[in-house]
Amino acid sequence: MLFFNKNISPKDFFPANSVDMHSHILPGIDDGAKTIDDSILLIEQLSSFGITNFRVTPHVLGGVWENSSEIIKEKEALLRKELDARGMQHINLHAAAEYLMDSLFSKRLADDDILPLKDNYILVEMSFLNPPINLDEILFEIQLKGYRPVLAHPERYLFYHQDFSKYEKLIQAGCLLQLNLFSIANHYGKDVGKVAHQLLKKNMYTFVGTDIHKERHLPIIKQLATKNNKKLLTPLFENNSNTFSF
Ligand SMILES: [Fe+2]
Repeated sequence: MLFFNKNISPKDFFPANSVDMHSHILPGIDDGAKTIDDSILLIEQLSSFGITNFRVTPHVLGGVWENSSEIIKEKEALLRKELDARGMQHINLHAAAEYLMDSLFSKRLADDDILPLKDNYILVEMSFLNPPINLDEILFEIQLKGYRPVLAHPERYLFYHQDFSKYEKLIQAGCLLQLNLFSIANHYGKDVGKVAHQLLKKNMYTFVGTDIHKERHLPIIKQLATKNNKKLLTPLFENNSNTFSF
């Protein structure tokens, strides 16, 4: 078994010029990178693994991280400038957001103040405690505005673990599901890892993102970079590239 699940270098794990479509690497804007040096360190490391395209997704969450689209764009411009100053022109950067589906999000949506991942794809999440009571209505509103909801880390919503039909319903309601890469290394617990593998087996995910916040997440990548996992994630890496390349 071990032979078949042998670790490989992260550079061999990720396809060349991979796209990360979920990350918290903009500086000083949420619980991710604190300083621009943190941002650069994360990008340098990830790009050494072959990830050179970043659709960065700071939290937008009412009462906690009420980042305006303007602030997110300012931080993007700041980081772009720093990357260029350091000769890192090969890094592609595009600022979007990870929207918690709360009343702040509904207001931004109504005001047409949304930063998509690309085209009409937007990244959304829900509370880890419970789904929004008006979830169906929100998903309907998103699509009425012409957007395609990409639901971040469905495997982390413990309240869905006992009823897989809930995941099917999310897909039927128009959601594309995004796996957090670290879930398959049990970073969020064994139950989350188990559900991630079940959803993978059922081909229910469309995309994969790192959702990286800090330096201490980097060793997890080395840990999960195996031949088996690479095979398992190949369709998702391909979807990432086909949909979110620059
Ligand atoms: Fe995230």
